[in-house]
Amino acid sequence: MNAAAPVDPAAIQRAAKLLARGGLVAFPTETVYGLGADADNRTAVAAIFAAKGRPADHPVIVHVQETRALDAWAREVPATARALAQRFWPGPLTLVLKRSPRAHDGLTGGQETVGLRSPAHPWARALLAAFCAARAEATAALAAPSANSFGRISPTRAEHVRADLGEKPAGKVDLILDGGACPIGIESTIVDLSGAQPRLLRPGAITRAQLEGAIGEPLVDADAFAPRAPGRLEQHYAPCTPLELIEPGRLPARVNELRGTRLAVLAPAAVPPDRTADIVLRLVAPADAQEYASRLYTMLHELDAAGAQRILIERPPTGPAWEAVADRLRRAAG
Ligand code: TXA
Ligand code: MG
Repeated sequence: MNAAAPVDPAAIQRAAKLLARGGLVAFPTETVYGLGADADNRTAVAAIFAAKGRPADHPVIVHVQETRALDAWAREVPATARALAQRFWPGPLTLVLKRSPRAHDGLTGGQETVGLRSPAHPWARALLAAFCAARAEATAALAAPSANSFGRISPTRAEHVRADLGEKPAGKVDLILDGGACPIGIESTIVDLSGAQPRLLRPGAITRAQLEGAIGEPLVDADAFAPRAPGRLEQHYAPCTPLELIEPGRLPARVNELRGTRLAVLAPAAVPPDRTADIVLRLVAPADAQEYASRLYTMLHELDAAGAQRILIERPPTGPAWEAVADRLRRAAG
């Protein structure tokens, strides 16, 4: 886990007031930083899309304080959803459910479903509590996609948000809360419970095995008929520098082939070469899947900023623990 900054009550109060007045606030969650707005305020939700440059037909996740908000934002909530919320909320799990009338088109992208998550990060929880108090409404919620420009790498530190969206007046966000590095580092697991069978839309820190254990049936993978989800576009979470995934053992040969090209490399410690002049940045890949995930986007931001012409990443190990990391790397490579 990365170091977390202690919650700053004054900053939380300021943020809650800004949100209640329709402002945009970037805030840390246990997964990545979110770009939050009052989910009931259509103008504020529209401002999120404008700030990100995100197409309006993409849905955003609605962040709620407690499980009881399920019935405010969703309808026909199945027992499996309650079981998963009971088990994994607050935490890095998003449930896609049939929407209630309150979940307007600006949140769902016009779909009949809504994505709900109750975050665990102390700053996010403090913010939701203060925001619900400011709105005098226990089921008030924050619409929040990741706080990055559309298609770019998700932010796991306040600096990432400052460098990309920035604070007003020069930037696009009313306030960026700095709660330190996000401990999990990749976006929440998304499960769709709106249909006949539970489906895994996006792998994350809560694994397929944990979910299947909790619901007692296998998870179907998202297919071509899945609801639109930008996280599912192949070109997403992408650095600006072209990124290549290299099969284990192939890196030295590939570096040789690319002689004369400035390279930024991410590979396990044991992998040569590390003395080539062409390599402008060499990062050591963590051997543990959770640690790899927690540092993945920070490493991608660094590799992207190194002035390289190409990023080379050795494909990490396969296996259930690596599913979410493999998914994000595949998308980053495009
Ligand atoms: O960890 C996270 O989930 C972070 C933090 C801020 O909570 N949020 C995040 O939001 O990753 P975003 O918008 O970057 O990605 C949310 C994903 C998108 O792929 C979106 O399409 C999907 O959730 N999603 C939201 N509502 C949905 C729905 N009704 N049906 C299908 N997918 C949905
Ligand atoms: Mg995102």
